[in-house]
Amino acid sequence: MADNKAILKVGDKEIELPILSGTAGHDVIDIRSLGANGYFTYDPGFMATGSCESSITYIDGAKGILLHRGYSIEELARDADYIEVVYMLLHDKTPNTEEYRDFKDTITRHTLVHDQVNNFFRGFRRDAHPMAMLCGTVGAMASFYHDDLNIHDPEQRLRSAYRLVAKMPTLVAMCYKYNIGQPFVYPTNKLSYAENFLNMMFSVPAEDYKITPAVAKAVDRIFILHADHEQNASTSTVRLAGSSGANPYACIAAGVASLWGPAHGGANEACLNMLEEIGTVDRIPEFIARAKDKDDPFRLMGFGHRVYKNFDPRATVMRESCHEVLAELNIDDPLLNVAMELERIALSDPYFAEKKLFPNVDFYSGIILKAIGIPTNMFTCIFALARTVGWVSHWHEMLSQPGQKIGRPRQLYTGEAQRPYTKIEK
Ligand code: CMC
Repeated sequence: MADNKAILKVGDKEIELPILSGTAGHDVIDIRSLGANGYFTYDPGFMATGSCESSITYIDGAKGILLHRGYSIEELARDADYIEVVYMLLHDKTPNTEEYRDFKDTITRHTLVHDQVNNFFRGFRRDAHPMAMLCGTVGAMASFYHDDLNIHDPEQRLRSAYRLVAKMPTLVAMCYKYNIGQPFVYPTNKLSYAENFLNMMFSVPAEDYKITPAVAKAVDRIFILHADHEQNASTSTVRLAGSSGANPYACIAAGVASLWGPAHGGANEACLNMLEEIGTVDRIPEFIARAKDKDDPFRLMGFGHRVYKNFDPRATVMRESCHEVLAELNIDDPLLNVAMELERIALSDPYFAEKKLFPNVDFYSGIILKAIGIPTNMFTCIFALARTVGWVSHWHEMLSQPGQKIGRPRQLYTGEAQRPYTKIEK
């Protein structure tokens, strides 16, 4: 931490504010003493506000750098598997062979959900949106672990983290099976994390389901690329919920809810819906024109990012995966042709270059998920599944930090000043 200071001059008054430095990235001005001086800062949308100290993930939006625990996303996507990334995010180190084997075994042996969970699903309409079912069932998991919810005990916190990471694929697959009226498929311990998820999604009791290795690899990569992304909306939601001392399942359910919005994790579903609306390549210019029109609220879904202003490094890896999967599966879907042409046109259009709008991770992940047969309304659930480790790592980190306070922002009040109340009969 540096010992330099910023001086804020308000009228005649000078307020000294310490400047703190991390290992990388912007320095931050510590404004905690401002309230006592009669001022708050104002930053709706958190355009320039650091809300916490964290050692999990680092992003340099200008250079397109994303590091988890110091390791680049490109290297992780190429050489690690999702279980290794989960271990690393939670434990701040890469596992050795033995640690990896034990950890994989621990996660595998937590994948089954309590049989009573089946009954929760029966309460939903068959056509319920899977994200609605996921919010509800993740939160409901707290009811099964009453004796293991002491958030001040690091061991209990880690056990909750393992349960969440392990059971999320089971719950997500159950959402899908419930929607289509097929029986739930139990986890299979001999399969990898991604294979087990595919098996629970696509196998049926009557016949064997053959997992295509290229598809399992692409799914594992999607999980890695979505595992964490520092203080995004859903992670900040999880932290804020957790700051009040709420249990981990309630916090992760809050994260799922926040992720659902189309500006965040819901973008992958919204992107595919948009591609369907566009329909054919010849209609792309009409939609590009709408995206540029200031009076039209339409946006190209899957384009743009709050932090990345040159390129999204996850999208670069995902793009590669996307082309691999399309070639491997020999897919010829007109919608995918629309996607590829939209990417080409948008990347060569000066409006998008000027505004630094590039395809983001959700643009390509949606295309891959569609190619491997995942229905559009399941896309955001898969993002939630993968991001669970990020959420729970931030929650665990926050509760490990001494002096952690409840998150309580202030406001700029613009309502009525105090006025007299008149009794209703008058
Ligand atoms: N299509 C057309 N114009 C856009 C788009 C878009 N997708 N995104 C931003 N713009 C324009 C916007 O109109 C604004 O123009 P102007 O300066 O003339 O008013 C300018 O670019 C800046 O936009 P902003 O809304 O102020 O930027 P932001 O940082 O608040 O929003 C964003 C970031 C991701 C919410 C936004 O780019 C967006 O809505 N994209 C589409 C949704 C999407 O794909 N979201 C997934 C993000 S990646 C996965 C994740 O993190 O969840």
